[in-house]
Amino acid sequence: MIIEVKKLSKKYKEQTAVHPLTFSINKGSCVAVLGPNGAGKTTTLQMLAGLLTPTSGRINFSHLSKGDMRSEIGFLPQHPSFFNWMTASEFLQLSGQLAHIRKNELHAKIDEVLNFVGLTSAKKKKIAGFSGGMRQRLGLAQAIIHEPKLLILDEPVSALDPQGRRDVLQLIQSLKGKMTILFSTHILHDAEQVCDDIFILKEGQLKWQGKLDDLQEEQHSINLKLTVERNVAQHLDHLSTINDYRIVDDTTAFIHIQHQTEGTQILSALLKNGAVVTHYELVKESLEDAYLKVMEL
Ligand SMILES: Nc1ncnc2c1ncn2[C@@H]1O[C@H](COP(=O)(O)OP(=O)(O)OP(=O)(O)O)[C@@H](O)[C@H]1O
Ligand SMILES: [Mg+2]
Repeated sequence: MIIEVKKLSKKYKEQTAVHPLTFSINKGSCVAVLGPNGAGKTTTLQMLAGLLTPTSGRINFSHLSKGDMRSEIGFLPQHPSFFNWMTASEFLQLSGQLAHIRKNELHAKIDEVLNFVGLTSAKKKKIAGFSGGMRQRLGLAQAIIHEPKLLILDEPVSALDPQGRRDVLQLIQSLKGKMTILFSTHILHDAEQVCDDIFILKEGQLKWQGKLDDLQEEQHSINLKLTVERNVAQHLDHLSTINDYRIVDDTTAFIHIQHQTEGTQILSALLKNGAVVTHYELVKESLEDAYLKVMEL
């Protein structure tokens, strides 16, 4: 365990941005914090990074040295800001000094991180001329220059084009195992590409947490796609065992079932009642459906 959070909350005047959250994060894991706008992702990540004082609750860090935890945490804000008059190298020099990297190691370290994020050719260029993607990469470079044990990234890919998105996700992927990573995103697909664990926040509450694979399993349900020769509504009306279904047209309907065996029972009941079944298919919900279901909770 690297972080243990108990009843962590944040209020802004009357508004509760984050309701008391309790969770823990294992050392070496990669956790995606998912949630729509205003869910409380930034507020939570900033409290974990020590940049925002919680209204209540406790955050315990283990495996990090005592004292000022921030030297062991790397943080990329949602909207990183830079001194535009600096070059990439100068900015990283400042970041490295703030993170107490030794002077004799700093130059090599700057080259190493610039190479890692693909900005070597921009080393001596002024940040003023950087594109959004380059800024995001530089932001990532400053977050990892001191090799933190815990890396917190607030929407590292949201502002990027598809290619930039994939590149930065790959960079995060290659940091996995070297440090514990926590990153926020609106997009389930981002989480799917990099992380094993997810937290789903909505309106400041933790709606779901666990392994990505378990989300689909836990929220799973099956739809039965059924096509008969005609009058599907009438045929389904006669079945007392089903109540959750959607009629598409005169011949086709989707029936919501819990288990596969239920489907077989429905099929045999329909045949018994004289329906001419022309199509029968079990359609499992996607991970996206499972996520949306949690969001509706
Ligand atoms: N400084 C502030 N003062 C007042 N309210 C705030 C402040 N910062 C955030 N909030 C409120 O707290 C809630 C959570 O905001 P937060 O920025 O943590 O959400 P988020 O999940 O990061 O959203 P986004 O996806 O838009 O970045 C929102 O309702 C927001 O309006
Ligand atoms: Mg945010």
